[in-house]
Amino acid sequence: MKLFQSALISFLIIFGVSANKLPKYKDAKQPIESRIKDLVKRMTLEEKILQLNQYTFGENNNPNNIGPEVKKLPAGIGSLIYFSANPVLRNEIQKKAMEESRLGIPILFGFDVIHGFRTVYPISLAQACTFNPELVTKACGVAAKESVLSGVDWTFSPMIDVALDPRWGRVSEGYGEDPYMNAVFGVASVKGYQGKNLSDPYSIAACLKHYVGYGMSEGGRDYRSSNISAQSLWETYLPPYEACVKAGAATLMSGFNDLNGVPATANHYTLTEILKNRWKHDGFVVADWNAVAQLVYQGVAKDSAEAGLKAFMAGIEMDMRDNIYLEYFPKLVAEKKIPMAKIDDAVARVLRVKFRLGLFDEPYTKVLDENERYLKPQDVALAEKLAEESMVLLKNTKKALPFSGNIKKLAVIGPMAKDKENMLGSWSFNGKANDVESIFEGLEKEFSGKIQLNYAYGCGFEGTDEKGFEEAIAAANGSDAILVCLGELKTWSGENASRSTIALPAIQEKLVEKLKQTGKPIILVLSNGRPLELVRLEPLADAIVEIWQPGIAGGTPLAGILSGRVNPSGKLAITFPLTTGQIPMYYNMRQSARPYQAMGDYQDIPVEPMYWFGHGLSYTTFSYDEAKLSAKKITKNEKLTIEVTVTNSGAVKGKETVLWYISDPVCSISRPMKELKYFKKKEINAGDKTTFKFEIDPMRDLSYTDGTGKRFVETGDFYIHVGNQKVKFELE
Ligand code: BGC
Repeated sequence: MKLFQSALISFLIIFGVSANKLPKYKDAKQPIESRIKDLVKRMTLEEKILQLNQYTFGENNNPNNIGPEVKKLPAGIGSLIYFSANPVLRNEIQKKAMEESRLGIPILFGFDVIHGFRTVYPISLAQACTFNPELVTKACGVAAKESVLSGVDWTFSPMIDVALDPRWGRVSEGYGEDPYMNAVFGVASVKGYQGKNLSDPYSIAACLKHYVGYGMSEGGRDYRSSNISAQSLWETYLPPYEACVKAGAATLMSGFNDLNGVPATANHYTLTEILKNRWKHDGFVVADWNAVAQLVYQGVAKDSAEAGLKAFMAGIEMDMRDNIYLEYFPKLVAEKKIPMAKIDDAVARVLRVKFRLGLFDEPYTKVLDENERYLKPQDVALAEKLAEESMVLLKNTKKALPFSGNIKKLAVIGPMAKDKENMLGSWSFNGKANDVESIFEGLEKEFSGKIQLNYAYGCGFEGTDEKGFEEAIAAANGSDAILVCLGELKTWSGENASRSTIALPAIQEKLVEKLKQTGKPIILVLSNGRPLELVRLEPLADAIVEIWQPGIAGGTPLAGILSGRVNPSGKLAITFPLTTGQIPMYYNMRQSARPYQAMGDYQDIPVEPMYWFGHGLSYTTFSYDEAKLSAKKITKNEKLTIEVTVTNSGAVKGKETVLWYISDPVCSISRPMKELKYFKKKEINAGDKTTFKFEIDPMRDLSYTDGTGKRFVETGDFYIHVGNQKVKFELE
């Protein structure tokens, strides 16, 4: 029966082709791999090379220049970074590709849609603090739809670079310090962008970046080298990529960093041996902006031609913007330095993504009015929900929060209070400050008729101007409590935004010192793209709420947290060191050789950071019953379940995230002190209890890798850490 069916299908396929006389690659009924083969066979070398290049379009957004710019574009170009949000223009460019290039190959339009397109939602670091990957999938789905409707098929996101140094501006773009978190949230965002199927009308291709090790850029300075041992590469930096490749991520982008002497953009080991040969990734890798040309600066190529050769032979299929492939490949192929088979494979990879996106069959995008494309009420509500769950209550003493009836007048002070632009965070090109609800607007909505708001600017983000202090102190004196809204400019995060200190500029700290003298309770609101040094500010504040850079909808959730309408549920996805000098400080370090009496730690400051990964307070309390194991011993082929019942022992409903860590005290290769293996967030009503379960799969959760990526599981004792319990079991 099966045989008959497949014979019939092949017959129909063959019949279909001859009936409509389409070349095979244009026939949507043909399997993608046959279409690719057919097309590659028809292409000239020049056409092939064009597919491996990416131009930018629209840097100059002057409408007068647009016409000639479209004319200038080669019709057969592989991809464009599309610095426009105009679907009509995209269709015009695409039409040129479809109709004026010999074979009618569609262009792939890429863009940095990092945390929302126009409906800008919180930065990725904040998203991780929700511990709610389902929300992130939904938000990326919204970003994908807005992108498609703006002419974009491919986003340069997610960034899944594990980042241990908060001086690095790009910590804001990833999901924090933990490999598992970067894997889970990376997969969540790939699912959101790519949907169930890349060919769905509102799916876009994801791009994992920056492969690999960019997060370890030395000293937190951007574009530097990353010296990562083989062991750390495999246990810390590669796992998020492996997980996202398995989840079907269509593309990757190589990093700017030198990795142990071989730049990530010329690294055959990571790009080919690992990615293509071991993980079987069949999409393509694009070099980061000018990264091929930079191989000359990085000291591994004598000129552009050699840079192009090295990058391509290492496994970079697409050259972003620097036109090196275009210029030098004809000669390099003629000289047989680049084999034709390698060109064909690279072209096939690029075409595969285009076919999977359905671009050959539906090259144009739907044209809708702006108000039908962006900021749909349900999408803004989602951005608000994400912001709400990402906010972390870092400190709450003297019942400062939520506000009780005693607060009739609230001083609202500081550079962030009415700011809109910086709430958007970095990489929000299509975000508009006008779309943003400021902190002050959120407060007005929440407290109108209940609390009088006394606003004062206080001071700027930086500088030495104290002129606003007097007015701020007066506002504070006339109020029952002070909300001080501090933070970072959005340009202090993202690319090329490293900072030598993670403290806020002195002027902001000084403002709080002055306000403290009024004796009024101080609630500190922080909006920033990295962990901050709070060693001087923390003692001055009765409560601290971290709102990150929440995007367009942060005002209402913050106001809800202050009023008690919202019970905060965010937890830190990255540790806040006590001081900048304490960096690196992350929870899954390896054990010291003298782990007692603070031996070896900095002698001039306490050992502990300000707030560990996982820290985050609630307005209710959760009590954990004793965790129960399904068995005390298991073999490698068995699974073990551990469960813990959590009671909401406070007076209000709240969401608790249970974090499950594993530690392995004795192993042939020493293990981190503990490693996050699973988490789950659930809402629990006051007085109710819920059971959380973690099923341990030894191969997945108890194994470790060596510096070649080989996995091992060793018998012996293990511990599960949950809440403040540490439960032992044995693998035999
Ligand atoms: C950044 C990438 C980004 C690319 C394209 C580079 O400078 O490092 O993250 O995707 O530009 O805009």
